Amino acid sequence: MFQEERKTNVEYQTIKGEKVPSLGLGTWRLSGQECVKAVERALALGYRHVDTAQMYANEGEVGRGIRNSGVDPEEIFLVTKLRTSNFSHDDVVRSTRESLKKLQTEYIDLLLMHWPNPSVPLEETLGAMAELQEEESVKHVGVSNFPPSMVEDAARYATIFCNQVEYHPYRAQDELLDQAKEMDYLLTAYSPVAKGRVLNDATLQEIGKTHGKTSAQVALRWLIQQEKVAAIPKAASDDHLRSNFDIFDFELNDEEMDRVFILQL
Ligand SMILES: NC(=O)c1ccc[n+]([C@@H]2O[C@H](COP(=O)([O-])OP(=O)(O)OC[C@H]3O[C@@H](n4cnc5c(N)ncnc54)[C@H](OP(=O)(O)O)[C@@H]3O)[C@@H](O)[C@H]2O)c1
Repeated sequence: MFQEERKTNVEYQTIKGEKVPSLGLGTWRLSGQECVKAVERALALGYRHVDTAQMYANEGEVGRGIRNSGVDPEEIFLVTKLRTSNFSHDDVVRSTRESLKKLQTEYIDLLLMHWPNPSVPLEETLGAMAELQEEESVKHVGVSNFPPSMVEDAARYATIFCNQVEYHPYRAQDELLDQAKEMDYLLTAYSPVAKGRVLNDATLQEIGKTHGKTSAQVALRWLIQQEKVAAIPKAASDDHLRSNFDIFDFELNDEEMDRVFILQL
């Protein structure tokens, strides 16, 4: 691979003093060779943030894609999530070790609890995750699909770096956005192109026209221009991978940002 291809023009959010690429690759429903290739291609295009989960059963393929890309793993913000059935202390430790092995990495940048699971106390799960942080197998910990009150509870047991939730032009997250700014955590937007729903949106298309961009690019730009927000669109094809990453050469003005916020009402 040419050195040139390893460059990235990605933008970053700053969370607790650390820079996190504001656009990442989602990998849910990517499997086998398609997953390996998508990760490899994304990294060649400049992506430096990859999202997977124990539940996606593709950590091995994600690890292979990273290895094949030739990009220094130190440059990649790698996220995985604990399966909700792995929330007991021993399962957190055992399953994270398995994830590390599959991902072929010595540490995970961000380990999340995938969904709330009231049958295991938060203290137990987050306590085990904090132990993994101490031994440096995990850099940061966080949650996913947590409402604001549960994020507050979680913060009693660990430093919460992220809450990953569904967020796009048709799904408001006002309370969590305020909380993310207040507590200085990353709000990672999943399903950021609303699984393709944004494609035919007249408002997004109209805004896109003035910038020479598609409605999906406007939706992604709108997300990452918000303080503390990252977006992780999933894409398999080269076209989608490329166009989702081609959002760092334009900006939405305040009026355009507001027009997208209004879609949520
Ligand atoms: N924490 C959680 O509970 C949770 C839940 C859901 C998702 N996630 C994470 O978030 C990621 C993204 O969410 P998602 O997969 O639900 O939805 P999404 O990223 O909003 O949508 C993915 C779909 O949109 C298509 N697409 C992507 N870019 C496109 C473009 N530029 N033009 C046209 N179509 C495009 C993809 O097609 P192709 O694949 O054919 O390219 C795929 O069918 C997941 O992969 C996963 O990593 C997390």
